[in-house]
Amino acid sequence: MFTPQPIGFVHSLFKDAAAIPKGLGAKHPEAGVLEILPAFVAGLTDIEGYSHLIVLWAFDRSEGFDLIVTPPSDDRPHGLFTTRSPRRPNPIALTVVELLRREGALLHVRGVDMLDGTPILDIKPYLSNIPEEKLRRGWLAEAEARQS
Ligand SMILES: C[S@@+](CC[C@H](N)C(=O)[O-])C[C@H]1O[C@@H](n2cnc3c(N)ncnc32)[C@H](O)[C@@H]1O
Repeated sequence: MFTPQPIGFVHSLFKDAAAIPKGLGAKHPEAGVLEILPAFVAGLTDIEGYSHLIVLWAFDRSEGFDLIVTPPSDDRPHGLFTTRSPRRPNPIALTVVELLRREGALLHVRGVDMLDGTPILDIKPYLSNIPEEKLRRGWLAEAEARQS
């Protein structure tokens, strides 16, 4: 295995997890900045050509995990690996953000759901190639149907 090292840190308005929208239909319109450390900035070359990025980051303020969890988007328990719970055996998170602009080492993005100061582990271009009719959304689709 490997020891992850941050390639940068998130600047976001969220100082407290309670302020981050959760549950069914939660939207994340907030802008934030991904600040990439000098040693990794060359890796941003050509990134302006992408509208959306996958950001892999660490839940650095989570501890422990349960394999069955009741997420904020449902009142029924589900397997951890069918949820986006911050409490996981490997506390790794993934967020798709919209790239608004780049200023050197700073990526201005929209769609942050990370706390301020969150370590960034990796960035990849977002390229979805799964047709919508082939996507199944598991218990989340059922929870949404019960709410409507
Ligand atoms: C439900 S998780 C989803 C994260 C990511 N979009 C994913 O799918 O992996 C988002 C929640 O993680 C929590 N969170 C955000 N930043 C965190 C951090 N640095 N450490 C621990 N928890 C964090 C907040 O409670 C936030 O509402």
